[in-house]
Amino acid sequence: MKLLGTGSVIPSRVVTNDDFSRFLDTSDEWIYPRTGIKSRHVISSEKLEDIAAQAAERAIADAGIAKEDLDFFICSNVVNEYLTPGLSCIIAAKLGISCPCIDINCACPGFIYAMDIAETYFSARKVRNVLIVCAEEPSRMTSWEDRSTCILFGDGAGAAVFGEGDKVKGIKLNAEPSVDKLFQYRRLMPTPYITKEESDIPLQMNGREVFKFAVTTSVRDISALLEKAGLRVEDVDYFMIHQANMRIIEGIRKGLGAPEDKFPTNIRDHGNSSSASCPILLDECHRKGLFKKGDILVFSAFGAGLLSAAAIMEW
Ligand code: COA
Repeated sequence: MKLLGTGSVIPSRVVTNDDFSRFLDTSDEWIYPRTGIKSRHVISSEKLEDIAAQAAERAIADAGIAKEDLDFFICSNVVNEYLTPGLSCIIAAKLGISCPCIDINCACPGFIYAMDIAETYFSARKVRNVLIVCAEEPSRMTSWEDRSTCILFGDGAGAAVFGEGDKVKGIKLNAEPSVDKLFQYRRLMPTPYITKEESDIPLQMNGREVFKFAVTTSVRDISALLEKAGLRVEDVDYFMIHQANMRIIEGIRKGLGAPEDKFPTNIRDHGNSSSASCPILLDECHRKGLFKKGDILVFSAFGAGLLSAAAIMEW
């Protein structure tokens, strides 16, 4: 498959590190050096499905195809206000499209997992055009009284349209299942028969373990993928790394031995927007005119699961 178009939309409300220090025992001096984050956009009056549909409209327009030409729609999302139907159906209704659609919950590497599913459909010649939308509101998963998690995340939606072609040169998925390092627990409706104890638990994270996993797995995923594709680190023009923490990105860069200018980032103003992070970064770089024909892009993302994934794509 090949990328035809991208789009993204972020909520209007900006929350700075200084805003946090008004209601939490934290500061820009603590947050910025440890994470690279200065501010993030969070959902306020918007609905996630609305910004997701707008991001999709932009990607479809950028691809230059008609909505009717979409054969399949994959939505990556961890949390939204509906338990059912899937967010893909809600976005599809807003877009006025009726191709088959599915939701995946693969946390931060969701964009690359969705690419892998799309690639399989292309290989089976079942589709000609696939829409991927990654829409996330992690600001609704953390406790805003927990300074170790809520400062890390931002909301947003990123979208991409893929068509038939041979520009995706390889995808690697990886799983190291371990629930307690990064999870949120939600109570379901009570019944007369539930006797076990249940409570809502906001996002819990073992920051240090996740940090280690992120750096090691990303370097490993990228190195394995490049080797399989017969490419070297020097052959890559841009590393599109999940924007979780600037120090994680820096650790990956050093692990690969690649120069700083090959790592575009937007974490300073976005924070970690889970699976929306990679496609938002992709869209922003594309709209700035960063990529030229033939450039080699490598994506890498990691998160809850614990899952990780990497992909190579020629522009
Ligand atoms: N402001 C001020 N102090 C804070 C703070 C904040 N926002 N968050 C945590 N602290 C405090 C802790 O309470 C702790 O204090 P204590 O020593 O008195 O107990 C101290 O800072 C150190 O906490 P620790 O969690 O060990 O810090 P850290 O150096 O590991 O940094 C993270 C924390 C979250 C920045 C870091 O672990 C990280 O980035 N991990 C990866 C997280 C991530 O990206 N997850 C998503 C991946 S998809």
